Amino acid sequence: MSRPIVVLAGDGVGPEVAAQAVRVLETVSARANLDLRFEHALLGGAAIDTVGSPLPDETLAACKSATAIFLGAVGGPKWDTVAPEIRPEVGLLGLRKALGLFANLRPVKTIPALAAASPLKNEKLDGVDIVVVRELTGGIYFGQRARSETEAFDTCEYTVGEIERVCRTAAELAAARRGRITSIDKFNVLDTSRLWRETATRVFGSEFPDLEVEHLLVDAAAMHLLSRPADFDVMVTENMFGDILTDEASMLAGSMGLLPSASLGDGGPGLYEPIHGSAPDIAGRDAANPCGAILSAALLLRHSCGADEAALAVETAVDAALRDGIRTRDIAAAGESAVGTIEFGQAVIERLSL
Ligand code: IPM
Ligand code: MN
Repeated sequence: MSRPIVVLAGDGVGPEVAAQAVRVLETVSARANLDLRFEHALLGGAAIDTVGSPLPDETLAACKSATAIFLGAVGGPKWDTVAPEIRPEVGLLGLRKALGLFANLRPVKTIPALAAASPLKNEKLDGVDIVVVRELTGGIYFGQRARSETEAFDTCEYTVGEIERVCRTAAELAAARRGRITSIDKFNVLDTSRLWRETATRVFGSEFPDLEVEHLLVDAAAMHLLSRPADFDVMVTENMFGDILTDEASMLAGSMGLLPSASLGDGGPGLYEPIHGSAPDIAGRDAANPCGAILSAALLLRHSCGADEAALAVETAVDAALRDGIRTRDIAAAGESAVGTIEFGQAVIERLSL
């Protein structure tokens, strides 16, 4: 049975990195008989320019009936002057919400070949292997908000049910990994965080008694991520904290361009996207790093196609390309030569053992 994959290339470098991820998926699909079928749809600025809405109805309908969705990136200065309710980002947030994608998995692993690309001392980077589980459909991103000329507010709201389900997803993941979970909040200031900590404590204690549980305040967590990154296994946190901490965590690996993500809900199609943005400053120049996108394709194979072996082959091929010294600009050391987005994609395909 063919599996429809909706590709939302989006804006800026989105189409360039998505093209390499799709190329890898096409190759894998042919070699492993996965029967993936790609269908392109509009999201973000590209959709605003074409049909006047960042999340057209046809796009949402296509996504709902897909096996999985692959997204490049959305946004850019071109749309800074459009009304806030139709900004490109609203399309992405609307899609996450409409598909119920409450758990955003962001794996952060240091790659020994890239130690020089991280601003951190190398001895801190040994053995860093973290999955940040970011709550994705609640919190301040989706609360009540309003603004006038002189005042504005955004509210952070969470229900027990929203906290329970993402804590369960994170705990299941931790149980299948090294058995450690760190929950991050701002318990000393926010009511949503007090509800978060109480709920997390109860879910872990009653349903996952074997896990080693730690709670950290988000400001301290931002510091601990740099001072002892190798101690963490699974981290779980609310939407905004997770957004900020994962940009920070990407520098453990060496570049924003390296990190993939999987957004999962209750059994429907998953959404896979690199954590980086649309990088308008380098768009259209074949200069973006497609690693985050290609590794997101690996997550798509694993979580939406049950193709673990193919996923691992893609991850191993990316590792091999990096080990062989293939570098895009963002991760090239001084004096090292860099390849373009397309050439990096080609290098990964050449190293696929499938
Ligand atoms: C991300 C991005 C998005 C977010 C933006 C583009 C809305 O920064 O996926 O991390 O804030 O969630
Ligand atoms: Mn972000």
